[in-house]
Amino acid sequence: MHSVKKRLDGKVAIITGASRGIGREIALVFGREGAKTILTARSADALAAVAQEIKAAGGVEPICFSLDVKDAVKIEELVDKSLDKTERIDILVNNAGVTRDGLFVRMSDEDWDEVLDTNLKGTFLFMRAVSKVMMRQRAGKIINMASVIGLIGNAGQANYAASKAGIIALTKSVAKELGSRNVLVNAIAPGFIETEMTQALGEDIKKTILKSIPAGVLGKPSDVAQAALFLASDESNFITGQVITVDGGMVM
Ligand SMILES: NC(=O)c1ccc[n+]([C@@H]2O[C@H](COP(=O)([O-])OP(=O)(O)OC[C@H]3O[C@@H](n4cnc5c(N)ncnc54)[C@H](O)[C@@H]3O)[C@@H](O)[C@H]2O)c1
Repeated sequence: MHSVKKRLDGKVAIITGASRGIGREIALVFGREGAKTILTARSADALAAVAQEIKAAGGVEPICFSLDVKDAVKIEELVDKSLDKTERIDILVNNAGVTRDGLFVRMSDEDWDEVLDTNLKGTFLFMRAVSKVMMRQRAGKIINMASVIGLIGNAGQANYAASKAGIIALTKSVAKELGSRNVLVNAIAPGFIETEMTQALGEDIKKTILKSIPAGVLGKPSDVAQAALFLASDESNFITGQVITVDGGMVM
């Protein structure tokens, strides 16, 4: 029987924040496209459910590893344990992220640190651990989840905007350092995507947001997952240091 080649056949992909929302969707899409996925998030139960979904759809059995992206030791452990089983890591998606919104003048140190440590430092820790492996392989793709807020800023989200702008600068800098080793580093800047992160917004705010989106609708996790698939696949082999906005035209 003739089987169609899938876009990530034989590739090994680590996805952070894979338990729900955009990360879960990326895991499902990568699994469907033939990747061996290594799923991480804090909740082991939620990860097991995503792994079960990938298997049920005929995908390769995922490896699940619960960790906090702020924990450098656990990240190194995850990389070592994964390599024992998979021997290589082709793709890293740094998707885990949090918000702690509030007006800037009243922002607590805790809210600043939690967002910067999770979003920016967590991305740095994962990139550092995995890029050593990718440099040895002379091949790898890193995809970092930024946000349009990191490009344009947002009242009430100074910590989040700073973390996402930091991710964009980190992406471009590491792309420059690792390009000659064929390790390609790009970012995705989603606009407003319907997930638990945005469900918390009130109806009035949602209406205002919709007015700023030329497409007239909020995005879906699958819209972001398809962009991640493009950046993870061989179709983007000469693209590095870029930020792809997936926002229905909100930021041009
Ligand atoms: N939803 C949107 O509209 C939107 C827009 C732009 C960017 N983003 C970005 O996309 C990414 C995913 O967003 P989402 O909407 O799916 O969010 P979500 O809150 O639904 O999911 C976030 C995921 O990150 C994980 N996570 C959070 N903190 C963690 C930590 N310390 N250690 C390990 N895992 C942790 C959670 O367990 C979860 O799996 C985030 O980086 C977010 O900033 C989302």
